[in-house]
Amino acid sequence: MPRKLVIEGLDQDYTWEGGKLSVLRNINIEVSRGEFVCIIGPSGCGKSTLFNILAGLEEPLRGKIILSGMEITGKRGYIAYMPQRDLLFPWRTLIENVILGAEVSGNNIEKTRQEAVKLLPLFGLDGFEKARPSELSGGMRQRAALLRTVLTHREIMALDEPFGALDALTRNQMQEWILKIWSRLELTILFVTHDIEEALLLADKIYILSSRPGKIQERVEVKLQRPRQEVNPDFIEMKAHLLDILGN
Ligand SMILES: Nc1ncnc2c1ncn2[C@@H]1O[C@H](COP(=O)(O)OP(=O)(O)O)[C@@H](O)[C@H]1O
Ligand SMILES: [Mg+2]
Repeated sequence: MPRKLVIEGLDQDYTWEGGKLSVLRNINIEVSRGEFVCIIGPSGCGKSTLFNILAGLEEPLRGKIILSGMEITGKRGYIAYMPQRDLLFPWRTLIENVILGAEVSGNNIEKTRQEAVKLLPLFGLDGFEKARPSELSGGMRQRAALLRTVLTHREIMALDEPFGALDALTRNQMQEWILKIWSRLELTILFVTHDIEEALLLADKIYILSSRPGKIQERVEVKLQRPRQEVNPDFIEMKAHLLDILGN
């Protein structure tokens, strides 16, 4: 598989007068086309910082981001980013919200709207075009935010804990659903979570970060067959292994 995204030797610090916080150290990550890659690590270890750098919202202290052979470090507009707190605008209808990303990127709005309408059933949002975010369930709001991210048509989607705030049942449904759209739409996904089971259910490959400053402790290939079951003995064994690494 061709390597789509390469993150090379990334370091990040936050500095201010009289102080410094080391946040990321020597982060090396590779994502191939069509892969589902999870990044897992304790709260505050720099996961969102890493995504802000990927999206070009922050410059790293050191290191490079290379997309399809081209360096994009510090550049915006290459990675489709769904931030941890990706809020839909309450005064916009669902359809106006989902075309927003394309609108900001300067894409053709009418074309994007038509495409959005076509994708609504796959995103479980059919019939809710004119609904305001307050009328939608938590799961629906996250699917709308994901549709907005998909409609920007970037080569890679970076999703920062997209299901983190959902209840357990909705979360399980969303995990099944995201695997469906990942294969249907042939997406390449980089996904942050702090939930080991979620990473094992979704990922082809998991990068485990240490607590701050975040370093890669281990890269785990997940060869389990899909659809995956939490009760499968191989699943349980991998989960124990990941817990062990994260506990150190
Ligand atoms: N702009 C900033 N300035 C200073 N410190 C920051 C900034 N953004 C994040 N931090 C700090 O950097 C660390 C990593 O944050 P973050 O990347 O949000 O962690 P995670 O997403 O893994 O929970 C935290 O200690 C956070 O308080
Ligand atoms: Mg975060």
